[in-house]
Amino acid sequence: MVIFGATGDLTYRKLIPALYALYNQQMLPEKFRVLGIGRSAVSVIDFREKMILGIRKFSEEKHLDDQQIIEFSNCLSYFHMDFNDLGDYLKLKIALKELEECDDKCGNYLFYLSMPPDMFSIIAGNLGKVGLSSTDDGFRRLIVEKPFGYDLESGLELNRRLHEAFDESQIYRIDHYLGKETVQNLLVMRFANGIFEPLWNRNYVHHIEITSAESIGVESRGGYYDGSGALRDMLQNHLLQVVGLTAMEPPSSMDSDAIRNETLKVLQSLKPITEDEVSKHVIRGQYVASHVRGELQPGYREEKGVNPDSRTETFVAMKFFIDNWRWGGVPFYIRTGKRLPTRVTEVVVHFRPAPHTLFQQDDFAIPNNQLIIRIQPDEGILIKFGMKLPGAGFNVKSVNMDFHYSELSEVHLPSAYERLIYDAMVGDSTLYARADAVEAAWKFVAPIQNAWATNPEIKMYGYPAGTWGPENADDLIEEKDISWRYPCKNLADDGNYCEL
Ligand SMILES: NC(=O)c1ccc[n+]([C@@H]2O[C@H](COP(=O)([O-])OP(=O)(O)OC[C@H]3O[C@@H](n4cnc5c(N)ncnc54)[C@H](OP(=O)(O)O)[C@@H]3O)[C@@H](O)[C@H]2O)c1
Repeated sequence: MVIFGATGDLTYRKLIPALYALYNQQMLPEKFRVLGIGRSAVSVIDFREKMILGIRKFSEEKHLDDQQIIEFSNCLSYFHMDFNDLGDYLKLKIALKELEECDDKCGNYLFYLSMPPDMFSIIAGNLGKVGLSSTDDGFRRLIVEKPFGYDLESGLELNRRLHEAFDESQIYRIDHYLGKETVQNLLVMRFANGIFEPLWNRNYVHHIEITSAESIGVESRGGYYDGSGALRDMLQNHLLQVVGLTAMEPPSSMDSDAIRNETLKVLQSLKPITEDEVSKHVIRGQYVASHVRGELQPGYREEKGVNPDSRTETFVAMKFFIDNWRWGGVPFYIRTGKRLPTRVTEVVVHFRPAPHTLFQQDDFAIPNNQLIIRIQPDEGILIKFGMKLPGAGFNVKSVNMDFHYSELSEVHLPSAYERLIYDAMVGDSTLYARADAVEAAWKFVAPIQNAWATNPEIKMYGYPAGTWGPENADDLIEEKDISWRYPCKNLADDGNYCEL
C-alpha cells in the first residue's frame, strides 16, 4: 500500500491505526508492506516512530500489544519526492520493486491519495505515465480521498483526468460514511427482513428525515472549511449516499455494481430543486457566538482561518422529493450542521398514522410510528410505537424498542477506514462512490450552489452555537404537529437568531 500524504493528519490518525487493526486480526497479506510518501525528507525510523505514536493514540483496538505494534511498524517504509516531478515517479517505481524484492513480476499495489484534492489528478496522471497504473503485473488500485470536486464542472473534470490514467474499475472514491457499520446495516435491515420492506414506500411512509449533527465547530480546519461549507462537505457526498441506500430498490445481487446501480437510480431520480425554488426548499445558516453551559463559544466568523465576512454555510437543511414509483410524494428532509447541541447521525423513517384514531388523547396527539437508524454514535436501531398506559381507560404512550450495536460485545466493530481499506484490498467496491453517482449528486446540488453564488437576496441565517440551527429550518416542514426530531435540547444559554 502506497500512501501519498503520509506525513499528514489522516495517515497518522486514521489510516495507520486502521492498518494496524487489520494486522492485529491477521487480515493483511503475509508479505504486506506500506510505503509512506511525503514531500519532506523524513527518516524511516522517524516515520515509524510517529506512526507508532498514532497507533497508541488513535487505535480503537481493545488491547494494544507492544510487541505486535513493533512488528507491524517493521513493514512501514518512507519515500520522499516531488509530486510534480515525473523523474521522481520513476525512482518510486524502482523503490517499490526493491521493497518487494521482485524482479520481473511484482505484487499488487494499492495507491492511497491522502493529499489535498488539487494533487489527486496530478499524482494519478504521473502514476499512469510511468506505467504504475498498468495491471500487467498485478492489481493497481487507486483510493481517492474526498472531496471529489467542488461543483459539477470540477467533479466531471476530476473524473475525466483520473480516467486518463486509471480505469473506473481501478478507482475507489472513499466516503467514510459508507464504511460505517450501521450504514451497511441499512442494506441488511431492509433486504434480509420480511417486516420492513413491505412498508418501505409511499403507501406507509409519511416522510423521511436524515440528520447529521456535529457539536464541534471548525476546530483547526477553518481555512479548509471556509472554502467548502456544509453543502459540499457533508450533504453532496455523505448524506446523499445515505439517501441512496435508504431509498434504493432491492438489488439483483450483493454484487458491488448491482448495489451501486440501484443507488445511482435514486440519485438520478432526485427531483431537481430549481434556482428559483432554492430559497423555499433550502435553508442555510452560520453559527454565531453564544454561551453554552456558561462557556463562550465563538461564532463561525471569529474562528481561525475564516474570513470575517464569510458567507459559507455551517448549516444546511432541505426538503426534496424522489420522483419514482416507490417514493412519489414522500418528502425527504435532510439537515447537517456544526456547533449543534450534540453529535448524532440518524435516519428517521416516519410512518403514516393509523387510518382511524380509536384512542382519543385529550391533551396530546399520538405520535406516529418511527424507525430510527442511528449511524453514530452508539450505532443501533430504535422503533417507536404506542402502548397502553396501565390503568383505567386507553391512554397511549409512545415507547421505544431499542437495539445498540455495542450489545453485540463479542463482535469486533471495525472502524470505517479499516473496513474500506480491507474492501479495496479484496477488490470490493460496494462501499465506494462510483463516478456516475458522484456526478449525479453534483448535478442535484448545482442549482443550489448557483443560486447561493448569484442571488444575494437568498438569506443566510445566524443561529446561536449550541442550538439546532436556524429556526427557519422548521418552516420546511409545513405540516401541523410535525417537526424535526430533536435528540436533545438546545444548549445555548444566550445568543441571537438573526439574519446575516
Ligand atoms: N484529516 C481528516 O480527518 C480527513 C477526513 C476526511 C477526509 N480527509 C481528506 O484526506 C486528505 C488528507 O487529509 P489530511 O488531513 O491528512 O491533510 P494534511 O494533513 O493537510 O496533508 C496531507 C499530505 O499532503 C501533503 N501536502 C499538503 N499540501 C501539499 C502540497 N501543496 N504539495 C505537496 N504535498 C502537500 C502534506 O505534506 P506536509 O506534511 O509536508 O505538509 C501531507 O503529507 C484530504 O483530501 C482531506 O480532504 C481528511
